[in-house]
Amino acid sequence: MTALNNLVDTQHRWCSPSILHDQHKVVDEYDDVSVSAGALGNLLQHSGYFQDAEEFAAKAYGADHTFLSPHGSTGANAILLRMLGLERRDALVLVSRNVHHSIINALKMFSMDFRFLPNPSYDPQFEAIFPPGLSDIREGLSRYPESLAVIYTSPTYEGITANTESICEFIHDEYPDVIVAVDEAWGGHLPFHPDLPKSAMESGADVAVQSTHKMAGSLQQGALIHWREREHGVDTDTMKEAYREYVTTSPSYHLIGSMDASLRLLKTKGRNYLSTSIERSTAVREGLTTHLPRLQILGVTNQRQYATNKHLDPTKTTLGLSAYDISGFALASELADRNVIVERAGLNSIVLLTTFQLPDSAAAHAVEAISQSLDGMELPKGKRKALPPDPFGACDGPQKMRPYEVVRYAKFMSIEVQMSKAAGRIAAESVELYPPGIPILLEGYTVTPEAVSYLRAALKAGAQLVARDPTLKTLRVLGEPSRNKQNKRE
Ligand SMILES: Cc1ncc(COP(=O)(O)O)c(C=O)c1O
Repeated sequence: MTALNNLVDTQHRWCSPSILHDQHKVVDEYDDVSVSAGALGNLLQHSGYFQDAEEFAAKAYGADHTFLSPHGSTGANAILLRMLGLERRDALVLVSRNVHHSIINALKMFSMDFRFLPNPSYDPQFEAIFPPGLSDIREGLSRYPESLAVIYTSPTYEGITANTESICEFIHDEYPDVIVAVDEAWGGHLPFHPDLPKSAMESGADVAVQSTHKMAGSLQQGALIHWREREHGVDTDTMKEAYREYVTTSPSYHLIGSMDASLRLLKTKGRNYLSTSIERSTAVREGLTTHLPRLQILGVTNQRQYATNKHLDPTKTTLGLSAYDISGFALASELADRNVIVERAGLNSIVLLTTFQLPDSAAAHAVEAISQSLDGMELPKGKRKALPPDPFGACDGPQKMRPYEVVRYAKFMSIEVQMSKAAGRIAAESVELYPPGIPILLEGYTVTPEAVSYLRAALKAGAQLVARDPTLKTLRVLGEPSRNKQNKRE
């Protein structure tokens, strides 16, 4: 704890968690009790203080019901997928290409079938995969009308939101049996300020999952599952069952208390807190536009895409570096040396999240730190870096084998090959950059050269990878192991 306290005192954290410090008046630091004590109620039974907190959260977000998840959105997504699996064992789920690995892993864990929605759109300047548009949903459901649910991430890491209102209107009219579930891990703050995009619940989604620590002010690991009841929609008893199966019997009461306290603060003072965050974000974008006119700023330098609608969260600032001879990873490291910590870096981009704990001086300091870090890095006028093509296209092609079956049988049906020989083979394991935690290579899908070269370039530039072999020298692909050397190198 001492190391943590010393660290956070020295840094401007433009990265999660975004913590509302006023809650310290509510949450005491050094005690806890187990559910055996009983006097406070029981999280698994949704009774006592837990019931109060859940009812308060449901009301604040316009849901019929809310459950508190002490396992982050990762656990909340597992509960969501388990609920769908309990609802229909052979369910097919349509997911957008931008979903976090917690959705994909839960699908694999519960042996559920899924397909990606068609036509994912990727912006190489900002390394962002967009949420699905209505036409993608329309096309996906016309191909797979038997789907039990459609799941997508909105807002994305970069704050780009889907038009959930029109998506829900379409699905509820044309496919009333299909559940619309939004991974809104990055959207816990949305209902609390009128200048933010509409939240999933306000837009008519059946279910939404949110991390309270990312944007809603709590300690880390907090999440909410909201849902609305409707005929053919989410069944509350099934959700309760999924929750009972999954949730820890020893939840941290600090965490639960922090979630409840931060939501109550957001409800009463959220508009003020968020006005400050929006002002600071605007100050950063304006300062950067003045000092670094060739810097790309999502929503500013590509204004036509965003200026006229409310689908971009103004508390996120995404910068594209095509006119600078530096990667996002290298810039993030330069910024860390100047005590500015960013949420995500990529080969050509960085994302800054305006958190609640930033001091008043943070915006001016960030502009200065970015300007200093980019000093002397500008490419000659008219020149821009060549950007790597979409690495996520690896999963655009057909699913060659069900991902959960690949996982189940990988020991008997896969071989390890040199990464240089992996393109064109079918992956038997997944590989991703973290953040954002969206699989680039995925079990059951063909490995593309674009994905391999992007991963290699990112690793070389300093990315953190989530992979069995984080050096990227090898990859497991489908293939028959030689009889005596099962699982050995080809
Ligand atoms: C879209 C999305 N969903 C879910 C998660 C998992 O959230 P948590 O860290 O709260 O488990 C993340 C984490 O970054 C995410 O970006």
